[in-house]
Amino acid sequence: MLHRSYPTSRIVDKYEIQYGKIVTFMYPLSHFPTSFVYLPLNNFIPAMSLYDKIQTTAAFIQQKVKTQPKIGIILGSGLGGLVDLIEKELELPYGQVPNFPVSTVKGHSGSLVFGKIGGTEVMLMAGRFHYYEGYNMEEVTFPVRVMKALGVHTLMVSNASGGTNPGFTIGDLMIIKDHINLFPEHPLRGPNDDRLGTRFPDMGVAYDHELIELARQVAHEKCITVRSGIYIGLQGPTFETPAEYRWLHTIGGDAVGMSTVPEVIVARHAGIRVFAISVITDIGISDEPVTITHEEVLEAANAAAPKMAALVAGMVARIGN
Ligand code: HPA
Repeated sequence: MLHRSYPTSRIVDKYEIQYGKIVTFMYPLSHFPTSFVYLPLNNFIPAMSLYDKIQTTAAFIQQKVKTQPKIGIILGSGLGGLVDLIEKELELPYGQVPNFPVSTVKGHSGSLVFGKIGGTEVMLMAGRFHYYEGYNMEEVTFPVRVMKALGVHTLMVSNASGGTNPGFTIGDLMIIKDHINLFPEHPLRGPNDDRLGTRFPDMGVAYDHELIELARQVAHEKCITVRSGIYIGLQGPTFETPAEYRWLHTIGGDAVGMSTVPEVIVARHAGIRVFAISVITDIGISDEPVTITHEEVLEAANAAAPKMAALVAGMVARIGN
C-alpha cells in the first residue's frame, strides 16, 4: 500500500476517536486513485494528553453517579471485605470506564464502587493495576488522578505485603509510616504537566500524620492491634529470595510488596493526603527456607480483611464528608 502525506485539514474530520484512540479511518473512495484507498492515520493525529484523558474519564463518571466522594480507597489483594460495608450507589467494572486498563490478577474483582460508608461518601477501587502485570506507570496511577479530578482529597490505600521485620507475624496490620521506592521506573518521570502537580514534589511527609493518629485511635477503640513500619515497593512478580528479604530489612524495611508506592507518589503529586496500611501475609525473614505462594497471600489477606475493613470504615466515618 502506498503511504503519502495528505493535508491534515482534509483528514481531520474523517477520523473516529474512541476514548482518545483512533479506531478507524476510511478516506472516501472518490478522493483517491484506486491504488491508495485506505490510509491509517496513527502517524497524523497526536494522542490525547494525559490531562485530557483524566478529564474525559472524570466527566464520564460524573454523568453516572450522584456521589461526590472526598475519600478514595484502593483495596489490595484479598482485601475486598470493605466492599460489603458500602451502601452502594453504583459499581462500574473497569472495562466500562473510559481510559481505564483492565485488571488481570486472580483475586482482584476490578471495579470502581461509589457509595457511602458510615454516612461518608467514598469511591473505592476493588482491585488495582500492578506494574508487574505489564501496565506502565501512567496506567498504574491513572485512577488516582481521576480521583483527584473528581474532588478526592484523602486516599486510603491497602495492600498485602511480606514481613521483613522478624517481630511481625502473619495477619498483622501495619500502618505505613514511610516508604522506600525500589520500582525501576518513577511514576512522575517525563515532562511534568503543572495542572497535575509540581515538578519536584516533597516526600517529607508522604503519609499523613493526622490520619495515622486517627488510625491508632480507631484501632484502640475497636481493640484491633496495629503495628507501624516502613513499606518497600518493588516490581515483582517474584517473591523475594531469603537474601533479598534480609537485605530489605537491613535497608530499613518492615514489609515489602508490589504496589502502593506509585499510587502514593501520584497522590502526593496531586496534593491528596494519604493513609496506607498493609496486611502482613507472609514472613520472609526466617532461619528456615520458606516458600510463598499467591494463594497463601490471598488466604492470609482474606483472614485479616474483616479487621482491616473495620479499621478503615471507622476512620472513614470519623473523617466525614
Ligand atoms: N513480597 C512481595 N510482595 C508481597 C509479598 C512478599 O513477600 N507478600 C505479599 N505481597
